[in-house]
Amino acid sequence: MKNILITGGAGFIGCHTAKKLMELGNNIIIIDDFNDYYDVGFKRERVKALLNGKESKIYEIDFTDYSEIEKVFKKEKIDQICHLGARAGVRYSIINPFIYEKVNILGTLNLLELAKNYEIRHFVAASSSSVYGNNKKIPFNENDEVNEPISPYAATKRAMELLVYNYHHLYNLKTTCLRFFTVYGPWGRPDMAYFKFAEALMNNEEIEIFNKGEMRRDFTYIDDIVEGIIAALTKEFEFEIINLGNNKPVDLDYFIKSLEKNMGKIAKKNYLEMQPGDVKETYADIEKAKRLLNFEPKTNIEDGLKKFVDWFKDWKKV
Ligand SMILES: NC(=O)c1ccc[n+]([C@@H]2O[C@H](COP(=O)([O-])OP(=O)(O)OC[C@H]3O[C@@H](n4cnc5c(N)ncnc54)[C@H](O)[C@@H]3O)[C@@H](O)[C@H]2O)c1
Repeated sequence: MKNILITGGAGFIGCHTAKKLMELGNNIIIIDDFNDYYDVGFKRERVKALLNGKESKIYEIDFTDYSEIEKVFKKEKIDQICHLGARAGVRYSIINPFIYEKVNILGTLNLLELAKNYEIRHFVAASSSSVYGNNKKIPFNENDEVNEPISPYAATKRAMELLVYNYHHLYNLKTTCLRFFTVYGPWGRPDMAYFKFAEALMNNEEIEIFNKGEMRRDFTYIDDIVEGIIAALTKEFEFEIINLGNNKPVDLDYFIKSLEKNMGKIAKKNYLEMQPGDVKETYADIEKAKRLLNFEPKTNIEDGLKKFVDWFKDWKKV
């Protein structure tokens, strides 16, 4: 049994990860500020649904406040940090870049400092496929250059990776940065396109499709991501950056058709121009994840979407 601090534990990926780690017998400590980037009530509902009745400590605090989170490090014995808390989402980062800089960079620095000062042995952090920007070479490989982020969100995620490397170099902190590719599933993020499409379909509203639908995403099912995170927490590498994706990008049009089939409705579509900050395609090379983490995504898009829609209908009581 390990004592694992999960930041962003009320979030989509954090909450699923906490649930699984608890089932495996670990002691979980959560830091999450329950901010209102999306519905706070939904975050609370998610925590209740996934973690209710199980032993976990939840600190409702902001990790950009060093002295506040230091109290947790003084009180709790922590073996590992699983840093999943962040400001996510490309579009809002263009509107409010300052909060992304504060949370994703300063917040990460706070946690790294505390990891150093309290001799935490291992730090896993959530990075993103967005660091690849408009990478022309596919699939995206961890050795590709990532010097041209096209949104503040992507820039802060890359900056976070560099800070993590720095703390490994200076203080021998064992670290892994995991680059997630478009994660979806039950209790997902309501600000993400697939979730908004499902809401719009249910309410017979129009869905907005950017770049006239000419986009491809390497959608990765939540359970596969959680397996990858847990493998990284188990392996405790010195320093690695690893893609976690499905390695099977799908066209947005195909994705929408599958969603329509599962929802039993046809969407009213509004085709729009490309949004600033968005990339046309994401595609993960997962050879490194296979080799180092035995990572093997098990859920194809058809099964994953069915699971998401089944949950969605149940949640909406349709
Ligand atoms: N979902 C995806 O497709 C995806 C893709 C790539 C990377 N990621 C990364 O994975 C991680 C988890 O993403 P998610 O989809 O679960 O997002 P999420 O927004 O559901 O979860 C993030 C959580 O962090 C919390 N948080 C934010 N700022 C905080 C602060 N200052 N102090 C304490 N808590 C704070 C939020 O309240 C939220 O519950 C993030 O780092 C995100 O950038 C996600």
